Amino acid sequence: MRLRSTKTPEDAVHHPVFARCYARMSVAAETRAGIAGVRAELLSGLSGRVIEIGAGNGLNFAHYPPTVAEVVAVEPERTLRQLAVRSALDAGIPVDVVPGTAEALPVRDETFDAAVASLVLCTVRDVRRSLAELRRVLRPGGELRFFEHVRADDRAMAATQRVLDRTVWPLLTGGCHTSRDALAAIEAAGFVVETHRGIRVPEAGVRLPTSACVLGVARRPAAQEPGRSAPR
Ligand SMILES: C[S@@+](CC[C@H](N)C(=O)[O-])C[C@H]1O[C@@H](n2cnc3c(N)ncnc32)[C@H](O)[C@@H]1O
Repeated sequence: MRLRSTKTPEDAVHHPVFARCYARMSVAAETRAGIAGVRAELLSGLSGRVIEIGAGNGLNFAHYPPTVAEVVAVEPERTLRQLAVRSALDAGIPVDVVPGTAEALPVRDETFDAAVASLVLCTVRDVRRSLAELRRVLRPGGELRFFEHVRADDRAMAATQRVLDRTVWPLLTGGCHTSRDALAAIEAAGFVVETHRGIRVPEAGVRLPTSACVLGVARRPAAQEPGRSAPR
């Protein structure tokens, strides 16, 4: 297992209180909200070199199949990154936890077979740039697996989300927004969405502003169409 140093002179994202809360609540939500099952489905069948953005405390790591040769897990928040390093030690595959942001991935062009974004496009500062970076680092034909919470279908919850996103929610949740349209952003970035389905998390019980989710697979087209440049 190869782990790089997690020390950076300056952390691009600094949310120590949120990080501690997320570390605790996310572990409980794995079983209580059924998120572990969603992660298993998200990562099922992956192989080769994989990059994961905003890996948090590393809850995906245990779900990577043995066909994955290596995961590079990028996490900008120091506390979460340290927890991710611990999770990496228990993963069944090599996981390299590195500092960095989705908007400026510290890796070379076209060096990954697959990329994973789970519960992170809601939080990145610049969704368009982050997706352009994922496209850059994926080989042509490489796949993007995504699990994101999105805008709710019903009007009342969508209105609640809008209010929350403009007020307290990002402040309390490390910059998260409840109602970003991840699917539209992925398509606008030049990925071809192959499969996707809406899911509710948790499946039953109290509906949260983050309950409406999308789970799917998109692909960087294998070859550039003549005369068409990649979206920026
Ligand atoms: C809600 S957590 C999700 C963590 C993990 N992906 C998961 O599925 O449990 C959001 C994560 O995005 C990270 N994050 C925030 N801004 C980011 C950015 N600009 N680039 C990459 N990750 C970022 C946070 O530090 C945090 O780990």
